[in-house]
Amino acid sequence: MDDKKPLKRHEALKPLSRQHHFGLLFSWKLRKGFAGNISVNRLKAYADWFFVHEIEPHFKLEEDHIFPILGVRDALIVRALKEHRRIERLFHDQDNPKNSLSLLEEELEAHIRFEERVLFAEIQKVATQQELKKIEEIHFEIGSKEEYMDTFWEKN
Ligand SMILES: [Fe+2]
Ligand SMILES: [Fe+2]
Repeated sequence: MDDKKPLKRHEALKPLSRQHHFGLLFSWKLRKGFAGNISVNRLKAYADWFFVHEIEPHFKLEEDHIFPILGVRDALIVRALKEHRRIERLFHDQDNPKNSLSLLEEELEAHIRFEERVLFAEIQKVATQQELKKIEEIHFEIGSKEEYMDTFWEKN
């Protein structure tokens, strides 16, 4: 697991870090689904639901409120935005969902680790008090409380 102790997350970024936790759980659930031979249709239905309830609003929050702190020319932001577009493409792929979901499981997790270990660490280092305060004022009421009914990951 982690070889170095993670930086203490700033209060303002904690709601987003909590959403990252749900993202990591999503990848874990997909892995369980694949291991248990759950049909691609069921996995895809769950991914579609997760995209609308978690991923889409989360990406929007980051792009509207977090990434501008470093600016779109910053190499970390260039990478993060590229990964967002790539992850969106994988969620939306209808041609070969099995392949896309399998890539998604890995790439979403890698993206979250990058944000937690590198990008957010940098953000909280350079953000002004005023910028952090603005983030704290955001309403973080996105889907995390909703339950998905088909809990395929519990069956094996
Ligand atoms: Fe992100
Ligand atoms: Fe994120």
